Amino acid sequence: MSSGTDLTHLEHDVLEEIAAATDLAALDVVRVAALGKKGRVSELMAQLGKLPPDERKAFGASVNAVKAKVSDALDERRSMLEAAALTTRLTHEREDITLPVRAGVALQGRIHPVSQVLDECIEIFADLGFEVAEGPDIETDDLNFTKLNMPAEHPARQEHDTFYFNPKPDGSRLLLRTHTSPVQIRTMQTKTPPIRIIAPGRVYRCDSDQTHTPMFHQIEGLVIDETTHMGHLKWVLEEFAKAFFEVDNVTMRFRASHFPFTEPSMEVDIDASAIGKPGQWLEILGCGMVHPNVIANCGLDPEKYQGFAFGMGLDRIAMLKYGLPDLRAFFSADLRWLRHYGFSLLDQPTLGGGLSS
Ligand code: PHE
Repeated sequence: MSSGTDLTHLEHDVLEEIAAATDLAALDVVRVAALGKKGRVSELMAQLGKLPPDERKAFGASVNAVKAKVSDALDERRSMLEAAALTTRLTHEREDITLPVRAGVALQGRIHPVSQVLDECIEIFADLGFEVAEGPDIETDDLNFTKLNMPAEHPARQEHDTFYFNPKPDGSRLLLRTHTSPVQIRTMQTKTPPIRIIAPGRVYRCDSDQTHTPMFHQIEGLVIDETTHMGHLKWVLEEFAKAFFEVDNVTMRFRASHFPFTEPSMEVDIDASAIGKPGQWLEILGCGMVHPNVIANCGLDPEKYQGFAFGMGLDRIAMLKYGLPDLRAFFSADLRWLRHYGFSLLDQPTLGGGLSS
C-alpha cells in the first residue's frame, strides 16, 4: 500500500512533469496521466477502500492535498503557456499596415467618377456640419410637385419632362422624381429645425443629348432654422466651390431666376478660369431662400422658420472638375471609359489628405 513517502514522490514527479511541459498538448498529456480516470492520483483515491478504516481519513486527506496542488500547478502552467502561445501568434501574424497594397485584382476595379465626386461632396458638406438624407427614386406627385409650391396645372411642372407611372384607381400618379427637392419636404415633415442636410441621388427627366441623360444625379442642400439668411447661402456655396475645385478663390455669379419653391431664387455660375477655362461662366446649381408656402406645407411655422435650399447637378460638376466631355458615356457601361476616367479604390477623398490627390 502507498505510503506517505510514495505520495511525496508522486507529487514531486507530477509537478516536475508539469513544469517540463512546453506546450498545451504536452500539458494535457500530463494532466490525463495524473488526474484522468486512470491517472496516478485518481488511482490512489480508488485504493482508499482497501485501507483499514482508521487510516482512510488521513490518507484521503493527503491524496486530496496532492490533487489540489497538482491542479493548481496545471492551471498556472496552462495560463502561462496560453499567454506564451498568444504572444508567439501575435508576433507571427503581425502585419505592417504601412506597406503599399499589393497590385492585384482588388486594385483593378475602378470607382465611377459620379461616386467619387459624391464622396468628395459628402466630405466637404459633412465638414460644414451637414447630414446626409435620402428619399426614394419613385415619388408621389404631391412630394415632387404640390408640396413644393407647384400645384396641379402649375406651368413650372411642364419644365420637368416627367416620367409618370400609370394612374392608380383613385387618380393619383406616381412618378420618377425629377429633382432631389422632395427630400426637402420629407425632411421638414419629420425633423424639427435646426435642419442642415444634403440629399444626393438619382433624378429622371425625359431628355437626352450630349449634356442631358434621362437619368442623372443631383445633390440637394437644405438649411432651416430661425436666422439663416442669404449671406449664409452665399458663404456655404463659396466654401463648397473652393474646396471642391481645390482652388483658393472662385468667382461666382448669382443670377436672378425662378423656382416655385424658393423666393428669391438664383442660378449660380462659376467663373471657369478657376478650372483653366478663362472667359466662360458655367452654371452649376439653382438655389434660393425656401418659400414660406413650402415651410407651411410641411407643418412648420414660416413666421418662425426660414432658410435656404440648393440643387446641384452632380454629373455636371464631375464633368467640369475632371474634364469629362460627354455625359452619355457616364452611363454607357463601357469598361474602357471607366478604366480611363475611373478612380482607384485607394483614392479616398479627405479634406486633410487632399480631395483628389
Ligand atoms: N430642384 C431644382 C432643379 O432641379 C434645383 C433647386 C433646388 C433650386 C433647390 C432651388 C432650390 O432644377
